[in-house]
Amino acid sequence: MWAVEAEGLTKTFVSGWLRPRRREALAGVSLRVASGAIYGIVGPNGAGKTTLLSILATILTPDAGRAIILGHDLARESGAIRERLNLVSGHANFVWSLRVAEILDFYGRLYGLPARERRLRVEELLDWCELRPYRAVPYNELSTGLKQRLALAKGLVNRPEVLLLDEPTVGLDPDMALKVRAQIAELRARGRVTVLLCTHYMREAEQLCDRVAFLKRGVILAEGAPAELKRRLGLGDGICLRVTGPLPDLAGVPGLLQWAVQDGQLACTVDEAATRLPSLLGRLQAGGVTVQELRVTEPDLEDVFVEYAKPHH
Ligand SMILES: Nc1ncnc2c1ncn2[C@@H]1O[C@H](COP(=O)(O)OP(=O)(O)OP(=O)(O)O)[C@@H](O)[C@H]1O
Ligand SMILES: [Mg+2]
Repeated sequence: MWAVEAEGLTKTFVSGWLRPRRREALAGVSLRVASGAIYGIVGPNGAGKTTLLSILATILTPDAGRAIILGHDLARESGAIRERLNLVSGHANFVWSLRVAEILDFYGRLYGLPARERRLRVEELLDWCELRPYRAVPYNELSTGLKQRLALAKGLVNRPEVLLLDEPTVGLDPDMALKVRAQIAELRARGRVTVLLCTHYMREAEQLCDRVAFLKRGVILAEGAPAELKRRLGLGDGICLRVTGPLPDLAGVPGLLQWAVQDGQLACTVDEAATRLPSLLGRLQAGGVTVQELRVTEPDLEDVFVEYAKPHH
């Protein structure tokens, strides 16, 4: 049921020798990721996202806390976890002089794939990531987009059951980012992989993720399905109207959270546009106001993010 279960993970970095500086990157992170889900972790720079993924990928050891990945204990069975998991970084770096196909083959070797299977796997990944035309191109001659696609291909070499993606679309142009997102969605549609995705792009999280956690200063501030998070914060829907005529008093309109008039536009926030629109329009009409234009906007995760990034959280 749970592909990843983490409890109370903490990590403090100590750097410097004469006057050591301590930086608490994770201050007790617990999360559960359902098997086959795409789970998003969003948060500002330095929130601890990469640290968390590195711990789950068995690259870093936590100071405290525990995690079970695919039934294996992180502390005692890291070898078993490594075989079944992979990590893709948006800032990946491979040996500069190696060619695309050689890099995939190299990682196939690291994962112990027998020669025949490795050849097949490399060809399959070259096709799936549309890297075939570049198979003989040295790494340092690839564009950023191609490097990122290669990083994703590398992350799939061992057919991981848990895939950790650290900002897989960072620095990509919109077209290329779309392509990578479509690939991530396709991976899930195939149904064999659980994805943990760290991203700065709220749209990406909203489009792809079943659940999202907001991480800030090493703590998860909120967690839930995107729609649930929006509801919990009471962000509400926006109704924007272009109106003529004197505005009646709108106090007491059910579900109306706030309103303001700006440049001849009436901007309202209601708890739910679909159910509140009729009574709002009714009140305006009864007051002799003519509505010329109307637009309903839903809050997006960006709004949730902005709310949680505020200092009081
Ligand atoms: N190797 C390290 N040595 C010292 N401090 C570190 C190290 N790695 C991370 N940190 C610190 O730990 C905190 C969390 O860093 P982390 O890279 O996990 O954040 P992040 O959420 O991935 O940020 P970003 O969005 O910028 O990638 C930061 O304050 C960072 O400076
Ligand atoms: Mg990071």
